[in-house]
Amino acid sequence: MTLLFRGDDAADRAAAADLLRTGHLVAFPTETVYGLGANAFDSEAVRRIFAAKRRPANHPLIVHIAALEQVLPLVSVWPEIAQRLADAFWPGPLTLVLPRSARVPDATTGGIDSVAVRIPNHPIALELLRLAAVPVAAPSANPHTRVSPTTAKHVLDGLGDRVDAVVDGGPCAVGIESTVLSLLGSTPHLLRPGGISRSQIEAVIGPIDVAPSEAILSPGQAPLHYSPTAKVQLVDPLAPNRPGGRITFGNTSSRTEGSTRILTLPVDPEGYAAGLYAALHTLDREFAEIAIDTPPETPPWDAVWDRLRRAAGPRK
Ligand code: TXA
Ligand code: MG
Repeated sequence: MTLLFRGDDAADRAAAADLLRTGHLVAFPTETVYGLGANAFDSEAVRRIFAAKRRPANHPLIVHIAALEQVLPLVSVWPEIAQRLADAFWPGPLTLVLPRSARVPDATTGGIDSVAVRIPNHPIALELLRLAAVPVAAPSANPHTRVSPTTAKHVLDGLGDRVDAVVDGGPCAVGIESTVLSLLGSTPHLLRPGGISRSQIEAVIGPIDVAPSEAILSPGQAPLHYSPTAKVQLVDPLAPNRPGGRITFGNTSSRTEGSTRILTLPVDPEGYAAGLYAALHTLDREFAEIAIDTPPETPPWDAVWDRLRRAAGPRK
């Protein structure tokens, strides 16, 4: 049985935080997507995250904290550049990868010597983290390789009673995952585009490396990720309808044309990102094929394009 907590209820938040602190799995809203949380210092609890998601044990998790002073026990160095990024973007959708401290268990980092950390920008997440008073390891709360959840219902649909509790905070505002930036090498390296753009980061710390890197472990970069069960194809916005689901963008409203269900997302990349996963979840329930009209290929769309390519990536 999964407990469903209301994020707008103080007693519910306190109960959820107690569960987190005592080794249970609690899914909770962040500004990006819902996370599947457990006490990051509790190896046993963290192992249950991997079991619930059917996620390979060597895929490292992001550790979520409520305040900057919680970062020092997690890392072995805290460079000046990390401080500048934290000052500029935390709380927010930027995850920093740093050398880990001995306190962070192997289970949390997938056995590697670095740790990913962020302060989420969501009042419910922040309060849960404060009340739990432990760092919380949380991958997106979806079965491995499936589309990330942006509502509590998506979490329940995907994980059901493999999670002890879900805190409902309504839909996530950003809608795609955080940007992951490695600070391990001499030049900061973008491992996953996301809620904070490359140009926002470069405005604060100068040029970063964005070349895909085989050397840096970031399993979220596997081509098969973020995939619906349906077959996804990227199509020209002018291409004729085919039976199934279709995701477009612009000023038209969502509609059904013949045997095609068309969902319309906003034309701006932030608005589009905020609605993308919900559209995929909706169409995935109904159709075996989903066509996605290709948006502009300009830098503000980088994070969206990353997710679209993966959604349309190779099948298992
Ligand atoms: O927005 C988000 O980041 C959401 C919310 C819940 O915070 N979380 C999320 O977690 O997307 P997950 O596990 O689905 O993705 C974590 C990403 C993966 O691409 C993983 O490889 C990378 O972060 N990562 C984590 N630790 C790492 C490390 N030590 N080195 C390199 N990459 C790491
Ligand atoms: Mg994920």
